[in-house]
Amino acid sequence: MKISWTGFSKKSLQERLQILKDYHLLNEDNQTNLEHNHMLPLSTADQMSENVLATFALPYSFVPDVVVDEQVYQVPFVTEEPSVVAAASFAAKIIKRSGGFKTTIHNRQMIGQVSLYQVANIEAAIKNIQNHKQELLELANQAHPSIVNRGGGARDLRVEWLNGEAEFLVVYLTVDTQEAMGANILNTMLEALKTPLEELTGGESLMAILSNYATEALVTATCEIDLRFLSRNKSEAIDIAKKIVLASQFAKQDPYRASTHNKGIFNGIDAVVLATGNDWRAIEAGAHAYASRNGSYQGLTTWSIKEVTQTLCGEITLPLPIATKGGSIGLNPTVKVSFDLLKQPTAKELASIIASIGLAQNFAALKALVSTGIQHGHMKLQAKSLALLAGAKDTEIALLVSQLISEKHFSLKRAQEILENIRQKS
Ligand code: HMG
Repeated sequence: MKISWTGFSKKSLQERLQILKDYHLLNEDNQTNLEHNHMLPLSTADQMSENVLATFALPYSFVPDVVVDEQVYQVPFVTEEPSVVAAASFAAKIIKRSGGFKTTIHNRQMIGQVSLYQVANIEAAIKNIQNHKQELLELANQAHPSIVNRGGGARDLRVEWLNGEAEFLVVYLTVDTQEAMGANILNTMLEALKTPLEELTGGESLMAILSNYATEALVTATCEIDLRFLSRNKSEAIDIAKKIVLASQFAKQDPYRASTHNKGIFNGIDAVVLATGNDWRAIEAGAHAYASRNGSYQGLTTWSIKEVTQTLCGEITLPLPIATKGGSIGLNPTVKVSFDLLKQPTAKELASIIASIGLAQNFAALKALVSTGIQHGHMKLQAKSLALLAGAKDTEIALLVSQLISEKHFSLKRAQEILENIRQKS
């Protein structure tokens, strides 16, 4: 069904919820939960973590019509930062008109490691492990039979000798975790391998734990943006495209810029990872390690211009071990709303959506940075946050925001002064 989202952000909260209802984007329960803001109950939160006192809320938004691999997704976003949702919506709209995102899932397996030390004969130990590889894989699978029953399980095992300040023999286990992120699966399997590996190597095991550097769960998203969407003026559009290319090259060369460049990408990625109940610390840790894989910290996206088609081509590759099952996913009712909005994607589809959102977010930020500057769009929305912080009521917000913008002065103190002025005049 084709839905017109034009001007969606300018509608009231009630109108936005009504649109979701009119288009049956959610089932009845989830629509009701959303309308009544029935999010995480305290009793459930108390089961999810320790020493719980309350729940902590953040704005729950969504980005309409993100086209990924020819599917249209309504994407939930959890973020407190103004302009992130606006930027993603803006980019998704342009990229949809240019044919949407295309993605490749390179693999979907998790890696864990058992590190051994005090191994007297490294060569013999490596040989011994290699000779018993099948046996070790079977032991790992026996430790977690339910993942094997679901079609997953231990797939490979390799061994590496690290000879630095200290010597380690490290055994890396690769596991197909299906729809789960797999931390518990991996850790159970790895712990089951500790004693057999000590026996095979004569060494001591230091630890057995999953790695968040998920190089076997890489996802690539690409897009080709028609240059005419960058500006109505053809030469200005070419100029913006060239500067976006330069901006991605700059982020490959300067870690100070790369960090901010990638932070912008994570504005979107984290927002969806949070909304879908995934582990954002794991995703961040893995992606930042991946950004450093060439020896220096670099931007995760690459932009280039295709002269023949007159398009700006974007690409992002990063590890995205995203789950649709396990952890708190089944417990949190808001996460259920997210999966309903996304029409119950598989883990691979969700990873594709998230990679695409990262690329969209980067496109919007770079376009703003190399053209109008970030403050133009950003501060318009920041002004609204300041108005709220200053204590403006619904009926006062619009006037206060427009006066703040006209003064180009954004401080809480100034917002409070203007608000007082408005109240005195009314
Ligand atoms: P604009 O061209 O003024 O937008 O850009 P517009 O008012 O013409 O609207 C165009 C479309 O954008 C709308 O279509 C919406 O889809 C969307 P419509 O619905 O009107 O048919 N849109 C919005 N969606 C939801 N809420 C809104 C809203 N406004 C527009 N309020 C825009 C305005 C903010 C989109 C643009 O200036 C932009 O993309 N700026 C970048 C902002 C950004 O990246 N913010 C993130 C925070 S800054 C940061 O942390 C990252 C950074 O440091 C990363 C880096 O350095 O790389 C920048």
